[in-house]
Amino acid sequence: MLISTKTLLTTAQAENYAIGAFNVYNLEGVRAVIAAAEAENSPAMLQIHPGSLKHGGLPLVALCLAAARQAKVPFSVHLDHSSAAQDIKTALQAGLVSIMADGSHLKYDDNVTFTRQMTTLVHQHGGFVEAELGRLTGTEDDLTVPEHQSKLTDSDQAIEFVNQTQIDALAVCIGNVHGRYHRPPQLDFQRLEAIRNNVAVPLVLHGASGLPNSMIEKSIEFGVCKFNVNTEIRGAYLTSLKENLSLPNSPDLVPLMQTAITAMQAVVVKKLRLFKSVGKA
Ligand code: 13P
Repeated sequence: MLISTKTLLTTAQAENYAIGAFNVYNLEGVRAVIAAAEAENSPAMLQIHPGSLKHGGLPLVALCLAAARQAKVPFSVHLDHSSAAQDIKTALQAGLVSIMADGSHLKYDDNVTFTRQMTTLVHQHGGFVEAELGRLTGTEDDLTVPEHQSKLTDSDQAIEFVNQTQIDALAVCIGNVHGRYHRPPQLDFQRLEAIRNNVAVPLVLHGASGLPNSMIEKSIEFGVCKFNVNTEIRGAYLTSLKENLSLPNSPDLVPLMQTAITAMQAVVVKKLRLFKSVGKA
C-alpha cells in the first residue's frame, strides 16, 4: 500500500528502527525491492534518482506508484537528490510528493533559500521534504582534514537550518559517502549524537552501501531512521547480468530478468534485516 513518507519515518523514529530507501531504475529493481519487503513483512521506500527520472520519465514514476499501491506492505515513493526546481515541479505534477530538495552544493544561505522555497511548494501539495546540510561526495580521498571537516554537518547550524527551512527530514554528513568506500568507513557518531540532540526531525543517512553492520546498528541507536541504498543493489544487478550473459546459450530475457531480480532481492532482504524494519509492516 502507498503511504506517506512522514508516517513511515515518524513510526520508525518512535520505534527505533530505520526505513530502507532503495534506488530503482526499472521494473526489475521495483520488483526486487517490493518482493523483498513483502517476504520480510517490512515497510520500505522506492527511490528515484533525477538521472533515473530523466531516463524513465513519467512512466517510471507511474510504475513506482502503481507498484507501491499494489504492494502488500507499506511503501512510499521518493525523489532522491533533486537540485533543480523544475525536476521537483515535474515530480509533483506526476504525483510524487516525497522529495529530497538538495541545495547542499550551494553556499549555506543559498541552500536555505532554495530549500525553503522547495519546502513551501512541496508542502502546498501535502508532501514531505528531505534536505541535506553539509556536503556528501563520492570519495573523500583527495581532501585535507579541514576540507573534509567543513563538509560535515554542523550540529548547531542544523538547528538553524531546520527552523529556517521547515524541512521534514535531515540528511546528515558524518563521514558517509556515495558509492564505494575506498578506505574503511569512519562515521563521526559524536557529531551524529549532537545533531540528534539538537533537531527533532527524522535523520537520514545516505551512502549505506558498504557500511559495516555495526555502523548501521550504531546509526540507528543514534537516531537515523532512513538509509539510502543504491550501489550494492546495482552491483548485484550488473553481476547477475554479466554472469548470465556469458553463458554459452544466453537465456531468454524473462529468465535473465528474473535472475537479476532474485539477486537484487537478496541484497534488499539483508538490508531490511539490518535496518530492523522486518515484521514492522
Ligand atoms: P550508495 O550508492 O552508496 O548506496 O548511496 C545511495 C544514496 O545515498 C542515494 O541517495
